[in-house]
Amino acid sequence: MARTLSVLFIGDIVGNAGMNAIRTFLPSFIQKYSADCVVINGENIVNGKGLTEKEATELFSLGAHVITTGNHVWENWQSRPLLATNPLVIRPINYPVGNPGRGYAIASLPDGRKVGVLQLQGRTFMQSIDCPFRAADSALAKLQAQCKIIIVDFHADATAEKIAMGWHLDGKVSAVLGTHTHIQTADARILPNGTAYVTDVGMTGPYDSVLGMQKEIALKRFILQTAHKYETATDDMRICGANVIIDEQTGKAISIKPFMYPSPITDIGEL
Ligand SMILES: [Fe+2]
Ligand SMILES: [Fe+2]
Repeated sequence: MARTLSVLFIGDIVGNAGMNAIRTFLPSFIQKYSADCVVINGENIVNGKGLTEKEATELFSLGAHVITTGNHVWENWQSRPLLATNPLVIRPINYPVGNPGRGYAIASLPDGRKVGVLQLQGRTFMQSIDCPFRAADSALAKLQAQCKIIIVDFHADATAEKIAMGWHLDGKVSAVLGTHTHIQTADARILPNGTAYVTDVGMTGPYDSVLGMQKEIALKRFILQTAHKYETATDDMRICGANVIIDEQTGKAISIKPFMYPSPITDIGEL
């Protein structure tokens, strides 16, 4: 039987409510999925904007190996020194040169295995940063020489751009997992050349909201068409992500299972 590696990927943590849920349940999730490697998207932790050294340290102590971020990380000034100094907290690689931080990381697991994590950001309906497809090619030229297992967090808005990236990277990486929209999609599959794919893993945050933000404020912004300060919501917490099992020898995915758990998890049988 092939030796396998289990990756636990947690979708965008939103606000204190999201962080509390992860604080409480990440250890049981690691156990349930026999996770060898844990990757967490932390772009929305502090009031919906980025994370600081404090939250990163806590996530690492809870079992995270690599933390990815996204467009909202730049709105928190305290995230920048973290990106600049911690090589295991990454941001999309295709932001223009001159921004702090790195776009990929290599997690060295205690048993010596290595997992590469690459983050890319889409351009459709987002900032017109460098081409994520070309950026992926040049990053993979370096990463593939160092590790067989590579997980891509594709932080993008448009479903078309996301599946296009899935096809572009099929057979070149172990998984392309979408983040950013905060809405879990029902299209998880293994592409023909062995890459696990899902358009979006969904957010780990309060669902009594608009994408994690208080719904009353979001409605004002839509209806009044003026600026209203977003606040993170608190109710109907859910933990979203995906578990990907990878064949260590080939780096190809064997299975992908997205999940969405309510929090508090009232029936431990759910886990
Ligand atoms: Fe997000
Ligand atoms: Fe985002």
